[in-house]
Amino acid sequence: MPAKKVFIKTFGCQMNVYDSERILEALVPSGFEETSQITNADLIVLNTCNIREKAVEKVYSELGRIRKMCDLDSNRSKKKTIAIAGCVAQAEGNEIVSRAPCVDVIVGPKSYHMLPSLVARSELHGRRSVQIDLTYEEKFDALPKRNLAHKASAFLTVQEGCDKFCTFCVVPYTRGMEYSRPVEQLVNEAKSLIKLGSCEIILLGQNVNAYNGKGPYGNTWSLAQLIDTLSKIDGVKRLRYTTSHPRDMSDDLIQSHSYNKKLMPYIHLPFQAGSNRILKAMNRGHTSKEYLQIIDRIRFANPEIAISTDIIVGFPGETAAEFDETLSVVEKVGFAQAFSFKYSPRPGTPASEISDHINETEKTSRLHALQSILKEQQELFNKRCIGKTLSVLFERKGRDSNQLIGRSPYLQQVYAVAPDRMLGCIVQVKIISATSGSLFAVLQDE
Ligand code: 5AD
Ligand code: SF4
Repeated sequence: MPAKKVFIKTFGCQMNVYDSERILEALVPSGFEETSQITNADLIVLNTCNIREKAVEKVYSELGRIRKMCDLDSNRSKKKTIAIAGCVAQAEGNEIVSRAPCVDVIVGPKSYHMLPSLVARSELHGRRSVQIDLTYEEKFDALPKRNLAHKASAFLTVQEGCDKFCTFCVVPYTRGMEYSRPVEQLVNEAKSLIKLGSCEIILLGQNVNAYNGKGPYGNTWSLAQLIDTLSKIDGVKRLRYTTSHPRDMSDDLIQSHSYNKKLMPYIHLPFQAGSNRILKAMNRGHTSKEYLQIIDRIRFANPEIAISTDIIVGFPGETAAEFDETLSVVEKVGFAQAFSFKYSPRPGTPASEISDHINETEKTSRLHALQSILKEQQELFNKRCIGKTLSVLFERKGRDSNQLIGRSPYLQQVYAVAPDRMLGCIVQVKIISATSGSLFAVLQDE
C-alpha cells in the first residue's frame, strides 16, 4: 500500500518543534510519511501556539486557507483529515470543533500520542474527536522510540508545564503543571538520538531548571545531575538547556558551567522587566537585584558565558521611568542575545484584567529603544570573538557554494567555506569578522 502523507505545520517555540517530530514518529507505524506539499497530504496537522498575539484567529485563518485549497482539490475523491494540536487546541478545543466543521481531530500537548488512533477513527467512521485530558506521563509512556534520522542538533523535552503563574502568561493553563520525565527514559531517548545521527542535545522545558525527575533509585534528580549523566553518554558532544527561570537557578547547575566541558557556555535566563513593582505585578518571584546577583554567580563560575534573555515592554501600568529600569538592567548585564516582546493580553490571564493598558504606539517606541541597545550589545559580543578560534557544529548548507552554517558554543550563527563532508561535524574555525547577527570564519587549518 502506498504510504499516506502527512503535512505538519509548526507554530511557536522549540517545544512545539520537538512535539511535531514526535507526532510524525508516532504516525510512521500507521503508514504515514511526511510531505512538505500540503496539497499532497492525506492528513494535515497544525501544531499551534498561543503565547502571544491573536493565536486563535491565526488558526482559523489558516483553516480558511486550507478549506479553500481542499475545495480546489475537491475533484480528488479522498478527503483530507485535519488535526489541530498544541496549545490553541488545549485552550480552545471544543470551541474549534463548533466553529470549524472541517476539523476532524483535536489533541492537546499531553495527548498527541493518540493522533494515530483518532485519525484512523475519523478516516474509517467519520468520527470527530477532542482529546485534551490526559497526562504527560501517559503520553511519554505511549510514544514510540525515536525512529527517524536526526539532525546534528536534537531537541529533547525533559520537563513540561509551569507552576509559576506569571500573570501575563498562558503556559500554566495550556501546558498545565510542571512534570519532569524520569532519568532512565531520558537517557534512553538521548542514546536513540545519538544513534540516529545527533551529537548535540538541547534539553527543553518551559522551566527546564525546575527539572526534578525520578532517578534510577527512586530519588529525585536535579537538572545538573541529569546533565552530568547525559554528558557521559558516548557520542554526546554538546549539551544545552532552555528555558531557565531565575528562581530555579541552583548552585549545582551554575557550577556545572565551570567544569562540564560538554555543557555549552550559554544560558537563556528571562528577566522580563527591570522595575520591582512590575516584576511583582508579573508575579515573577524575583527582584531586579536578585536577577543581577544570579548573573554575577553565573559569571563567577564561568566568566566567558553568553547570557540571553526575554523581556516584555508595556506591561499594564508600566511607566516611562519603570521602562528605563528595564534598560538599566540591560546595560548592567550586557546580553549576548535577547528576545523582546510587546506585552500582549492573553485571555484568561490575570494581567489581561488590569485596565491600565499601554497604548500600541508607546509599546512600539519602547520596543524599538530596547532593541537598538540589545542589537548593539549583541554586535559587541560577536565582535569580541574576532581573532578567536571557536568550535562550530555545522548544521546546514549556506546559500553560497561550498558554504556551511553552524553554531558556536555561544549559539552564534557561524558562516564558513567548508566541504559538505563537515556537515554534522564539530570543527575548529577562526573568526575573521562579525555582525550583530552572525560570525564569519575560516577553517582553522587553512
Ligand atoms: N505578552 C508578551 N510576551 C509574552 N511572553 C509570554 N507571555 C507573553 C505575553 N502575554 C514572552 C515572555 C516569555 C516568552 C516565551 O514569551 O517573555 O519568556
Ligand atoms: Fe510563563 Fe512565567 Fe511559566 Fe515562563 S515561568 S512559562 S513566563 S508562567
